Amino acid sequence: MKKDEYKFTYEIYDSIDELKEEDAWLLQEAREVTQHAYAPYSHFQVGAIARLANGEIVAGSNQENASFPVGLCAERVLLASASSLYPKVPIDAIAVSYQSGNGHSDHPITPCGICRQALQEFENRVGHPIRLILGGMEGKVIVIPDASMLLPLGFTSEELK
Ligand code: THU
Repeated sequence: MKKDEYKFTYEIYDSIDELKEEDAWLLQEAREVTQHAYAPYSHFQVGAIARLANGEIVAGSNQENASFPVGLCAERVLLASASSLYPKVPIDAIAVSYQSGNGHSDHPITPCGICRQALQEFENRVGHPIRLILGGMEGKVIVIPDASMLLPLGFTSEELK
């Protein structure tokens, strides 16, 4: 028997003001796009904005449904849009922000498990890491250099070959 260890490094900023200009812009856009969420059930509005390698900007927001499992997270709405509008174009960075029903939005949220899987497959398919810039409407911001770092030992298309 031997043991292995998984570690990754990410950045923590005290606020959006510490980010480099292009990252701060993207996070501010993510904050604004939370307003496009359709979240009448959870009242948790999530906004995601991507900067693509060709310079285009693509948005996503969570879209819920009376049949709860039908609902989609902002991140997967964004990935589907990016892939449909600009097929095969890598995504350089995605910023994610949110507004919660209780009015608190003072720390970063991280993508759910299903979105981690979707982000990993997008990265693998285009062969390019996606930086994640995660922050609330205020407070600390974290930057993760590669979304796949959030899904160690993930199941990938390699297994299906
Ligand atoms: N949600 C997202 O859109 N992204 C996340 O990273 C976490 C959760 C959505 C799903 C659901 O509409 C609401 O937030 C509450 O879970």
